[in-house]
Amino acid sequence: MAIERTLSIIKPDATRRNLTGQINARFEGIDLRVVAQKRIQLTAEMAGQFYAEHAERAFYLDLCEFMTSGPVVVQVLEGENAILRNREIMGATNPTNAEDGTIRKDFGESVEANSVHGSDSSESAAREISFYFSELEIVG
Ligand code: CMP
Repeated sequence: MAIERTLSIIKPDATRRNLTGQINARFEGIDLRVVAQKRIQLTAEMAGQFYAEHAERAFYLDLCEFMTSGPVVVQVLEGENAILRNREIMGATNPTNAEDGTIRKDFGESVEANSVHGSDSSESAAREISFYFSELEIVG
């Protein structure tokens, strides 16, 4: 299996409830390493650009507003098969549908306030990582 990197975001609902450490423990518990991390306040422009692929969806404006409602922690996770394994530990987008033991099941409040984002493919991971980090900021 290949060592991969994926982009993760701990969303404002989770930073508001002081859950950064508990969520990172979930990643570390399955041998995903946090190889870059920063806590930032997204601007409306950044959120809009980051989620541009959803621009036509009904939830786009609410999503962008939510993502700017408080700090987020953006991070790069590294490990074997990291993209898929991160999506597994996150759980389904809607916490109601997420499996027991996943981050969204345990911490998510709604489909919007679902605590974490993770890249869904290697192409997305490359684009999303470079959106937030330079190569110098990622130390494996
Ligand atoms: P995320 O993985 O960050 O990617 C896009 C986000 O849109 C998604 O998680 C959800 O939090 C959010 N979202 C809000 N409403 C919906 C919806 N109705 N369907 C899918 N995603 C939604």
